[in-house]
Amino acid sequence: MTAARAQWGSRLGFILAAAGSAIGLGAIWKFPYIAGNNGGGAFLLLYIFFSLTIGLTVMLAELALGRAAKLGPVGAFRKLVGSKWALFGYMGVLTGFLIMTFYSVVGGWTLGYLVKAVSGELTGLSREGLNQVFGSFISDPWKPVWYHGLFLLLNMAVVLGGVKSGIEAICKYLMPGLFILMIGLIIRALMLPGAMDGVAFFLLPDFSKVTISTVVEALGFAFFSLSLGMGAMITYGSYLDDQAKLVSSALWVIGLQVACALLAGLMVLPVVFAFGFDPAAGPGLSFITLPAIFDHLPAGQWLGALFFALLLVAALTSSISLIEVVASYFIDEHGMERRKITLAVCLVMFVAGIAPSLSFGLWQDVKPFGRTIFDLLDYLTSNVMLPLGGIAVSICLGWIAWPILARQLPHESPWFMTAIRLGCRWFAPLAIGGVLLKGI
Ligand code: PFF
Repeated sequence: MTAARAQWGSRLGFILAAAGSAIGLGAIWKFPYIAGNNGGGAFLLLYIFFSLTIGLTVMLAELALGRAAKLGPVGAFRKLVGSKWALFGYMGVLTGFLIMTFYSVVGGWTLGYLVKAVSGELTGLSREGLNQVFGSFISDPWKPVWYHGLFLLLNMAVVLGGVKSGIEAICKYLMPGLFILMIGLIIRALMLPGAMDGVAFFLLPDFSKVTISTVVEALGFAFFSLSLGMGAMITYGSYLDDQAKLVSSALWVIGLQVACALLAGLMVLPVVFAFGFDPAAGPGLSFITLPAIFDHLPAGQWLGALFFALLLVAALTSSISLIEVVASYFIDEHGMERRKITLAVCLVMFVAGIAPSLSFGLWQDVKPFGRTIFDLLDYLTSNVMLPLGGIAVSICLGWIAWPILARQLPHESPWFMTAIRLGCRWFAPLAIGGVLLKGI
């Protein structure tokens, strides 16, 4: 406990690590299918709006709280806001744990698809063939569970490397590679006949499709994709040095994440329309459609393998932040040793993740509250727990601990500070609360 707190190596390192936490399966796996389910363009606009308003407010609040306290969510709320508020820190740790149980399942699918791409199993398949390969893979009782375990082992290897050498190093080199490859895939996708229908579906908003559930989904996705509402940014902020400017860092992270979601939509949805896939196909959408485009590229098999390898890295840089929130709670609050607690947390996550993994096969009919276990975990965390965490942190900093936030933003103009204060006090809590209540 007496050792100096670890710090990021540079501001760029921090931005890449925080963007690494944000950018992951959310943008590439989740975004195309929820945009597909929610009418495309209108969903995109709502998502961008929420990211730049509520998202920016909550991100600043989280980074400021973490940097001021130099502790993870439980300790930061307790130290700077009051011991009762630590409850929201605990909720964050629990949310991180619950998200990881299903996130790691999809991380495992990515690993499985990397293996399939390398072995050539995805080449030369028809639309039905691709649907079938995905369906039989995720419904298998063993394979996805095995890959979920393997994904957790990879996570453990990175987290055990510590803050700087592990998390930062992996983000710095591989995230830019992912962006470049996505741009290449988009260019090829746009040349397919019929692709422009997908572009129109994605970019032209049709507001007649907007319902309250679209709004709830867009808000929940903004929280999920920016890693907000559960203390990941509090934890990452706690490793940030006191000189780094929070606003520009936060804007970089949000900008990169929104850009990545945009690229993912432009990569997947044109292929969906060009090949006649169903845009509302659900969680498998990216896994089913992407191999179709690899087939139209020279050395497609290897480009496909490279893509899934980079997606795996993007997933890892997000999941390590989920594990880090849980592990650093035990390290900071109970003085436990990083190595031991990381092993224990991953083991429990493995066991807990078996249920969502089986949701696509053996347990597909187990539906508490009308949803499969996988869907229920996703809905509950993204659309309820993360927004609630967002309300808590913005109320804390807007009403109770405003001087802390003000001190962490010494260079901002008075109008910006007023806007952020109003955002924390009124706009974020009321807008999130209103959407949640309406959604229920
Ligand atoms: N933002 C990650 C993604 O979009 O893939 C998921 C995530 C990571 C959510 C970390 C929450 C979190 F704290």
